[in-house]
Amino acid sequence: MGTPFISLLEPTPLPWERALPPSEQPHAASLPRTFLDAMTVRSQVFVQEQNIPQANEFDADDPRCAHWVIYASVNQTVSPAVTDAATGAVLRPRQSETQSVPIGTVRLVPFPHPPHPLRGGVYVDGELVSSSSSPAPEDTTTATANGTTQPTFTPDRPTTFHDGIEPYVKLGRLAVTKEFRGRGIAGQLVRTAVDWMRTHPSYFDPSPAERGFEQLGMEHGGTLPRWNGLLCCHAQEDAVKVWEKCGFQIDPEMGTWMEEGIPHFGMFLRVEVEPEAKGV
Ligand SMILES: CC(C)(COP(=O)(O)OP(=O)(O)OC[C@H]1O[C@@H](n2cnc3c(N)ncnc32)[C@H](O)[C@@H]1OP(=O)(O)O)[C@@H](O)C(=O)NCCC(=O)NCCS
Repeated sequence: MGTPFISLLEPTPLPWERALPPSEQPHAASLPRTFLDAMTVRSQVFVQEQNIPQANEFDADDPRCAHWVIYASVNQTVSPAVTDAATGAVLRPRQSETQSVPIGTVRLVPFPHPPHPLRGGVYVDGELVSSSSSPAPEDTTTATANGTTQPTFTPDRPTTFHDGIEPYVKLGRLAVTKEFRGRGIAGQLVRTAVDWMRTHPSYFDPSPAERGFEQLGMEHGGTLPRWNGLLCCHAQEDAVKVWEKCGFQIDPEMGTWMEEGIPHFGMFLRVEVEPEAKGV
């Protein structure tokens, strides 16, 4: 494998048909290549390998996320060698070419978020379908300027690392194709996303001009939300160690819950936001 390179897609409208796989998207021509590649990896890993329904793979967060895709240069056979059946002599050698293949992806979801999952809750396609604990704070959404909806800034339940108020960003949909695992690819992706956020700390801070000062102030207790270095992830049980290697810690108060039939843990990482980088 040659030196992998990483591509970033910043938030953008995505005309995606949820029920269809990446190869059958009717608006493929108007979709950014990076996003098609991210969805190709996500489909291979989450849909084909983990049996998550195709329709649950894309969600309303995707257009407001930043996405990273990592590519490997792979030598692939474009036509096999032709040999003489009688003598075995090679009439035409194998022809190959080097192609960039998407092998991993991660996305970064900006704040605001729906409430933290309930301890012991069971979620399918982002919706709570059963729970043994008390109800979560109400999950409300507001319309954005481009016609999509996003969760409202409302106080959440406090956990070990999150006071329930501070804006945080969430890394998710971390996936590496099977044949490229165990080579530090996930680590590279997570570190790239964390570094980008650390160096663009105000990227997702909403401006009163976009959402209206009164609405933002009301939603957020009178102060404007500002990102101050807090990152979260909802880690699949088997991936906890991978996130720990990237500096995330399990949040004991957040508890565990089921998403798409897989046990999940809440984890947080705090990074130092350089003052001079603020406002970039
Ligand atoms: C989880 C996943 C993304 C890891 O990808 P990867 O490229 O193999 O991970 P890396 O090689 O970067 O591993 C990062 C670190 O975690 C460790 N690690 C990786 N997989 C591990 C495992 N299953 N158990 C324990 N440690 C593991 C590695 O040793 C490495 O540590 P190091 O930096 O000290 O060498 C990949 O296995 C995958 O796509 N799994 C299916 C989808 C999934 O579970 N996604 C996570 C959703 S939260």
